[in-house]
Amino acid sequence: MNPSQKIIEDMFNKGFLVNQDLLKDANQTLLDKIECEEDLLVLNEDYVNVLVQQTSLVDWYDLDQYRVDVEKKRDDDLYQAHLQNFKENNPSFNSSLGVQKQQISNLKVEISKTLENSFNTTLSVPSESLTSEDSSSSLSLASEPLIALASPLDNLCSPQRVEIVISYQNIPHKYEVSDFTTLFLSRYRFLENLLRHRSECQNVLTIGRLLSKKEKETVTVIGLVEEINETQKGNLALTVEDPTGRIKIFFSKENPELFHQAKDLVFDEVIGISGKLGDKIIFAENIIWPDLPVNQLKKSDQEEYIIFLSDVHLGSNLFLKEEFNKFLSWIKGKVGNEQQREIAHKVKYIVIAGDLVDGVGIYPTQAEELEINEISAQYEQFCNLIKEIPLDKQIIICPGNHDAVHLAEPQSSFDKTFAPGLFKLPNVTLVTNPAIVNVGKSASFSGFNVLLYHGYSFDYYVANVESIRNNGGYHRADLIMKFLLKRRHLAPSFKSTPYFPAHKEDPLLVKIIPDFFVSGHIHYSNISNYKGITLVCGSCWQGKTSFQEKLGHEPEPARVPIVNLKTREIKVLKFI
Ligand SMILES: [Fe+2]
Repeated sequence: MNPSQKIIEDMFNKGFLVNQDLLKDANQTLLDKIECEEDLLVLNEDYVNVLVQQTSLVDWYDLDQYRVDVEKKRDDDLYQAHLQNFKENNPSFNSSLGVQKQQISNLKVEISKTLENSFNTTLSVPSESLTSEDSSSSLSLASEPLIALASPLDNLCSPQRVEIVISYQNIPHKYEVSDFTTLFLSRYRFLENLLRHRSECQNVLTIGRLLSKKEKETVTVIGLVEEINETQKGNLALTVEDPTGRIKIFFSKENPELFHQAKDLVFDEVIGISGKLGDKIIFAENIIWPDLPVNQLKKSDQEEYIIFLSDVHLGSNLFLKEEFNKFLSWIKGKVGNEQQREIAHKVKYIVIAGDLVDGVGIYPTQAEELEINEISAQYEQFCNLIKEIPLDKQIIICPGNHDAVHLAEPQSSFDKTFAPGLFKLPNVTLVTNPAIVNVGKSASFSGFNVLLYHGYSFDYYVANVESIRNNGGYHRADLIMKFLLKRRHLAPSFKSTPYFPAHKEDPLLVKIIPDFFVSGHIHYSNISNYKGITLVCGSCWQGKTSFQEKLGHEPEPARVPIVNLKTREIKVLKFI
């Protein structure tokens, strides 16, 4: 029996009558795919093409209806459009799925002794020994238009050591409902594709197909969370939707472990759920999040350091001038013991994750707390300080919610009208919020991908996610950042941040797996590690505002997380 005959016989046993012509390019991968598609009733050439190029869940039942219409000479366009739909949107992201082989040891935290009274090192986090797959394999450019905003003079200071991987270009147009639909569909398709590759999500069915099933069997769906309700008896009832329909999901409090996980679900996140099918309801047994694979902790071949600042808030009368000047003196190598000066000299990258200035009219009583009440003057003062930083250090800056750009995310980079000085600093790279830059690349090293996100959405998750709120809230940026990475999105709930809906793909998806995820906004520095990614939240350079007082928010200013890129050891320097 030749291979084609063998395939024909195998397919016949599975209920398909296959034409020999159809199998000219058949291979085991295709056969495995066919086997996973339990709704597939017919196998024609179009369907084989869809299976080969498939990037999202296909409702074969729906597609069959359109094919039947074609055969009845009704609507070929609709059929072709649907075929195309399942084949296009090939994600540029080349995920390193299925890499979860490496166990990460718990972070060991040591309190080190005070080194000198000019500043203190408060915390050190030793690097971990990891030897899993190189996360750089997952790097590729997003399909969004990217802009290189770096000053052309950058290369004079440190040639090609900072590369912009993603920085968005927001082109405004008249927005329609379809812009938002596109955004959600692109989110759903990307996350669905990730989830479908998970072993727990084999045999996923579309909701439309599932609703017509009568049998009470175990099923798996991938849906976007549309509604979350608590029943009278204290159980949890969700509604999830996919492009074919919506279905209720029931989480019983009798299963405390699952119920506890379900309590953290938020609106608009995309999850996989498996459970027993009832009448238009699934009794949940498992939740599957898109999450990240474990990544290798990359190490540079050169002894260089990167430091992280955020929330300088220049212009506020609570701006900590003295402490910031102490930081500047250190980075210039003018204070500190010999070791501290040597480290300052080896700092080659400075990331500032937004809120350079306090802005004007940001919160109700701000005017009373401003020392400089004109936005351009605030930026001018900021630039005067930043230009003291030696030129051998590359500074990468994204905006935050206090900066003079629109609040909708992705926030555009800075505006020359308000902050012309920023564009004159030869060692400054300006990017959008969020953005990804690559630093420290050399002939023998691929560099580190740094994801910058100011963190405006963090407030929503502190307020709405029980496990974050009850475990330290604003003092635990690491919990928020892990929560977001697990969902592969910087603001999964639509309400958690204003959107700039001018992009074909949801720009807040975490498509490229970074080496560093850097944020600010909550004025309380925190460092952690999640699956080989270093999570860093910058501190602030502003005392407690009346607004923070009202919110019960306790900032911890003048801390600077610093990472040795050769060892990945992290410390937090204290300038107060
Ligand atoms: Fe902020």
